Amino acid sequence: MKTVTTDRVIIIGAGLGALYAALKLAPRPVVLISPETLGEGASSAWAQGGVAAAMDAKDSPDDHAEDTIKAGAGTVNPMVAKLVTQEARDYILDLTELGTPFDRTADGGYVLSREAAHSYARVVRVKGDQAGAEIMAALIEAVRETPSVQALEGVMAVDFETEGNRVTGVAIQAAHDARSAPIMLRGAAILVAGGGSGGLYALTTNPHRIRGQVIGMAARAGATIADPEFVQFHPTAIDVGEDPAPLATEALRGEGAVLVNKHGTRFMLDVHKDAELAPRDVVARAIFEQSQAGNRPMLDTTDAIGAEINALFPSVTEACLRNGIDPSVDPIPVAAAAHYHMGGIATDTHGKASLDGLWVCGEASSTGLHGANRLASNGLLEALVYARICAEGISSEFAPVENAPEVALEFATGGTAPDPEAVQDLRQTMTNHVGVVRKAAGLKTALRTIARLEQNHGDSPSFLNMCATATLIAAAALLREESRGAHERSDFPDTKPELAQSTLLTLSDALSLRSKICGEPE
Ligand code: SIN
Repeated sequence: MKTVTTDRVIIIGAGLGALYAALKLAPRPVVLISPETLGEGASSAWAQGGVAAAMDAKDSPDDHAEDTIKAGAGTVNPMVAKLVTQEARDYILDLTELGTPFDRTADGGYVLSREAAHSYARVVRVKGDQAGAEIMAALIEAVRETPSVQALEGVMAVDFETEGNRVTGVAIQAAHDARSAPIMLRGAAILVAGGGSGGLYALTTNPHRIRGQVIGMAARAGATIADPEFVQFHPTAIDVGEDPAPLATEALRGEGAVLVNKHGTRFMLDVHKDAELAPRDVVARAIFEQSQAGNRPMLDTTDAIGAEINALFPSVTEACLRNGIDPSVDPIPVAAAAHYHMGGIATDTHGKASLDGLWVCGEASSTGLHGANRLASNGLLEALVYARICAEGISSEFAPVENAPEVALEFATGGTAPDPEAVQDLRQTMTNHVGVVRKAAGLKTALRTIARLEQNHGDSPSFLNMCATATLIAAAALLREESRGAHERSDFPDTKPELAQSTLLTLSDALSLRSKICGEPE
C-alpha cells in the first residue's frame, strides 16, 4: 500500500468535535479527514435541540450533573458528569465568541429550551431548531480561516495500522469512489472524531455516512469498546418513509406539544408522571409500542405552538411540508428511530483510547457521561469538552510542530466498495432484531446474519467496520441479561442492581460469542 507520512495531527471526522479540536490544536498543524465537503454529512450539523448548559440563574452545574446521572440509569461515571457539566457555560461563551448566533432574550440572556429529564430549561438554541447547523457554520468559518488546518475533503478512513499496542497510521480512501486503492497515512497522533452508529439501523435520524465505521475500525485494531449495547432511539423521528428519517426535536414537547395516537388518546399520561417529558428511553418505548400495535403515534403541536411553528422550528416545518403535512394544523406521524450511540471507543478522562497514540472525542467515544441513556443535548456538550481535552493531551505529549507540509494524495484504483444490498440487509437486521425491544432469539438471529454478510462481503474494509460495530452491539445486548435505560430486553424486563456497570468488550470477545451462536442449532 502506498504510504504518506505527516507531522500533522490526523483528525478522523469533520463534525463538531473534529473542528473544535482542530481549532484548539492551532497553531499545531492538523489534517482533517472529511468524507464530504465540511459541514455536509456530519451528524452534528443535524442536531436540532442545542447544547445543554446550566445558564439559568436558578440552575447549577451540579443539578445538570445530577440529571445526567439520573437519566443514565445507573451507569454514568459521576466524575465525568461533574467534569463535563461544570465547564458547560464556558463553551457556550466560547461558541458565542466564535460567532454562533444563539437565540437571545430582550435583556441579552440566552433563550433556553426545555427537553426531557432536565429539571430546568437548559438547552441553548439557535433560530429554534437550527443549533447544529449554525454552530457548525461558525466553526467551519473559523477553521477555513486557520492556516494550520488542512481539510482533506472527500476522503474517508477505513483501517488503522498498528505496531504492538500503538496506532501508527490510518488507511484512507476516496469517499465517493470506495474502489480507490487505500493509502496509508502515518502520523504520531490520531484523534478519532468520526460520529456514531445510528445509520447501522434502517430506521434512523443519522446521515448516511454515520454507520459505525470508526468504532468498528478501532475495534478491528484491538481497541476496547465500552457499552456498545446502549443505543438511543429518538421517540419522534418523523414517520414519512424518508431515509434517514427527519427529526422532530424534543424541544417541541418542551413547548407543550403532546403525543396522541390515531384514536386521539394522549397515551403518555398513563406511562409516566412526566408524560411527554419523561426520559427519552421511556417515551421511545411507548411510541414503539403504539407503532407495533398499529395505533399510529403522532406529535400534535397544533394547540401548543400552532402557526408559530414555521418561525420557531423551521427544519421540522420544512420536513413536514415536503411530505404534505402542515404541522400548524395536522399532527405529525412519528416513530422511534436510532439516533445516538452512548457506547463507543472506551476512553479515559484524558480522551485516550486503550491503544497508544489514539484519542477519541464525540459520539465515537464512550467517556462514561451518558451511561445507558443520554440526557438530551448533552451530546454536543460532551464533544466540545473532550475535543478540548484531547487537543490539550496531544499538545502535552508531543513536541511542538511549527510547520508541516500539506498532505498530498493521489488515489489509484484497487479498493472494494461496500455492496449496497448487503448494507441494507445489515441495517434491516439491526432494526428488526437489535432495536428498541430486544430478546435472545432475535439477537442470535442478528449475530448469525451479520456473520453471513461479513463472510460474503468481507472484501470491503468499510463494510467490515460496519459489521464489527453491529456485532459488538448485538453481542453486548445478548450478554446484558436485564433491561436498563435504552437497552430493553423483553425476556429480562427487570433492572438488576448487580449489573449497574459499564460493559467493556473487545471485538475478539464479541466474535467468540458470535462463533458460538453460529455453531448452535437454530
Ligand atoms: C432533539 O432536538 O430532540 C435532539 C437533541 C439530542 O439528541 O440531544
